[in-house]
Amino acid sequence: MAPDDSSTSSLPQAGDSAIGEASARHNFLFMSKFFRHGTKIASIWPSSRFMAAASVRQVAWSTAKAVVELGAGTGPITMEIIRRLQPQTTFVAIERDRDFVRILRDRFREVPNAHIVHGDVCDLQNILEDRDIGSHGVDTFVSGLGTPSLPEAVRHKMFAAIKHHLKPDGFFSNITEFPYYYLRYYQSIFEHVAFQWVPINLPPGGVYHCHGIKCNADTASA
Ligand SMILES: C[S@@+](CC[C@H](N)C(=O)[O-])C[C@H]1O[C@@H](n2cnc3c(N)ncnc32)[C@H](O)[C@@H]1O
Repeated sequence: MAPDDSSTSSLPQAGDSAIGEASARHNFLFMSKFFRHGTKIASIWPSSRFMAAASVRQVAWSTAKAVVELGAGTGPITMEIIRRLQPQTTFVAIERDRDFVRILRDRFREVPNAHIVHGDVCDLQNILEDRDIGSHGVDTFVSGLGTPSLPEAVRHKMFAAIKHHLKPDGFFSNITEFPYYYLRYYQSIFEHVAFQWVPINLPPGGVYHCHGIKCNADTASA
């Protein structure tokens, strides 16, 4: 748990040269995976800290009981979540790539209420039930996935699980490198969708902030 920046001394701190080197290594690993696996990674470079901060902007940190991150990569959004995480919140980050999971577990091993799960979002329902997250509901899903380009069957299973677990006043956010392009897609899944520009990112992009999941969320087409 890391309630604020002053209590994050056990976490990597900007300015530490070893951390800078590790971060450069992680970024180049991420890029090399993008060149090898393309849309499975979905982005050429990890999110900037501006993108990461924008994607968690609406989380109610003082009351949230469960926050779930989808597609954590090497952890830029994970870091922003952990910086703000309160003791009462259970945080689960899900990532499919084994090397990224190793990096995440190494970076965030000191945080007792953060759980790094090696898994696929098509198993989201089981992942949440296994950790007993489902019974209390999830306050926020923060997605770093290229959601519209996931296989349709995966998207449908993922949104079925989100529909099942998201609290009525909870929300979903998703980063994007295609500003506004998928607005209608997210509007077909959620009642209220707002788009926030994030110009300082490689490439520039933004975040869809979504509330009020619809009944047909698990059948929407991209
Ligand atoms: C665009 S990257 C974003 C990574 C990180 N969140 C960031 O903002 O830099 C998408 C990540 O989702 C992961 N991913 C893709 N498909 C997935 C799936 N079906 N289940 C879990 N993770 C997946 C990829 O391995 C990659 O790390």
